Amino acid sequence: MCGIVAYIGHREAYPVIIKGLKRLEYRGYDSAGVALLNGGLKVYKKKGKVEELEKLLADVQDLHSHIGIGHTRWATHGEPSDNNAHPHVSGDGKMAIIHNGIIENYAALRQELKNKGHVFQSDTDTEVLIHFIEEIKKQENCSLEEAVRLALNKVIGAFAIVVLSQEDERKLIVARRSSPMVIGVGDGEYFVASDAAPIIEYTNKVIFLNDDEYAVITDHSLDIRTLQDVPTTPYIEQLDIELEAIEKGGYPHFMLKEIFEQPRSIYDSMRGRLDASTGRLTLGGLIEYQNRLANADRIIMVACGTSWHAGLVAEYIFEELARIPVEVEYASEFRYRNPIIRENDIVIAISQSGETADTIAAVQIAKAKGALILGVCNVVGSTIARMTHAGAYTHAGPEIGVASTKAFTAQLTVLTMMALFTAHKKGTISEARFRQLLVGLETLPQKVEETLERVHEPIKKIAALFKDARNFLYLGRGCNFPVALEGALKLKEISYIHAEGYPAAEMKHGPIALIDNQMPVVFIALQDSSYEKIISNIQEVKARNGRVIAIVNEGDEVVKNMAEFVIEIPKTEEILSPILSVLPLQLLAYHIAVLRGCDVDQPRNLAKSVTVE
Ligand code: AGP
Ligand code: GLU
Repeated sequence: MCGIVAYIGHREAYPVIIKGLKRLEYRGYDSAGVALLNGGLKVYKKKGKVEELEKLLADVQDLHSHIGIGHTRWATHGEPSDNNAHPHVSGDGKMAIIHNGIIENYAALRQELKNKGHVFQSDTDTEVLIHFIEEIKKQENCSLEEAVRLALNKVIGAFAIVVLSQEDERKLIVARRSSPMVIGVGDGEYFVASDAAPIIEYTNKVIFLNDDEYAVITDHSLDIRTLQDVPTTPYIEQLDIELEAIEKGGYPHFMLKEIFEQPRSIYDSMRGRLDASTGRLTLGGLIEYQNRLANADRIIMVACGTSWHAGLVAEYIFEELARIPVEVEYASEFRYRNPIIRENDIVIAISQSGETADTIAAVQIAKAKGALILGVCNVVGSTIARMTHAGAYTHAGPEIGVASTKAFTAQLTVLTMMALFTAHKKGTISEARFRQLLVGLETLPQKVEETLERVHEPIKKIAALFKDARNFLYLGRGCNFPVALEGALKLKEISYIHAEGYPAAEMKHGPIALIDNQMPVVFIALQDSSYEKIISNIQEVKARNGRVIAIVNEGDEVVKNMAEFVIEIPKTEEILSPILSVLPLQLLAYHIAVLRGCDVDQPRNLAKSVTVE
């Protein structure tokens, strides 16, 4: 995600842009920049939040312009820096671009352009795109808009872009595929942004650009065409929505928005890495270390909280697929234990923020002991990301809600790809099994979407019935045992109800004494290798009048006749099922917390990133 703002019209462009960028900072805040046209192209950009850019520009005398573009970045390719900040400029210095998304074939394009003499100033995929447009414009001797159109027809990936050129100071070229773009229609002026937040104070007449459409905007014209150059008739909507609601995508809380973003965040975490039709699985950041991974004696995962739960799931997956022993450590314990690290050990640090103090300390210790450190982080260029030798980012986009949701399922997606990548390299799984799991992963976004749609209403009803419960138990087995822990944590941290996750089989070793008709017990009871066992566990709880809520596979009539409530989710590969089984638990925690009047996005006592010990 990132924030895009552009303007053409009679107003001073800079104030419109900078104010708009502040409205979009929730979409990413690694760096910010603007490009203005007034007797030439002027580009100003700075690492950090928008206010850093404002400080930079405070001393610039002439910011006068009636056309400009602005960007606040959420890095995917190239760490946050002045150089990697947008806008990016063509080699001849005449054109500038801002971009939201991922150009998957940027590496091949970059090499082709380098072979033609192009020199790059940044590490980003975006800069490659503006050089590609420049090259096509020169080769075809065509207009800017035609060069953009031709270039985008050869780009693989997601983009929402705005391009301008000093060779035509009254024109903006806008295009999108997969990333959002809104055009605000004013009176002799046009606004362009990633969402309506920067636009709404000027006009409520907006056009939502569709995928594979581009627009040519001048002071007095707006021409929208498909990338196949077929004119379209834009539909102008009248928006009636509050600014705050726009930032949350129309959802009441960032947490709910992020829960429903999971089809996209899981897809983005696989984007450019996985293609089931060709059997391709490439994790660019790990290729250099694939032999070390394949020959590892042991994998140690260090993390905290939800990220630790992701590590626990990954333990099952790595051990099943790659046959490598895995230990999952609380970073906060690992760092004080003088742990034993051997030469062929690999440490994987899992962290959404990349700034968790305990995980940083754990990585420091492991690194000092000579381990190879790999990272699974959501923030490009974060402290933990920069400490690791290599890794694979989740591309979940900014996670604003304190309770981690989309980052967790993105972590599971990336960790599963890492395990599959390693197993395929080691030959511990057959080609058929490898291809089967690639298909399973590729179909996940659709299954996540189906699950969210299917379970939302039933979960709301259950939340209303149990919002005053004083305790909850969450039980699971196998790779869904960590999901039971995660479900309990979600409920605890936003509704303040005490909840415990447990391996279902452990109940008879003590916790079953807790069961009575006041105890809601959430079972993850999928038709997997432990299905028969978990049914026995459900019977044990029912026999003691526990109130059973069961997450089951669709069509399961057996558990339906045993549980008080069942929530049905689609079937998938057993090792992928945690990505689906966690979804109703996220929604259950959310709706109970809302019904209890809790501050869902910023729960008491908590911080989004625990940067203290
Ligand atoms: C999860 O919902 C919590 N917000 C918390 O447990 C979090 O997962 C933990 O602090 C680790 O954060 P990190 O992933 O940014 O390192
Ligand atoms: N992929 C581009 C970059 O890393 C754009 C990221 C974004 O959407 O902010 O700079």
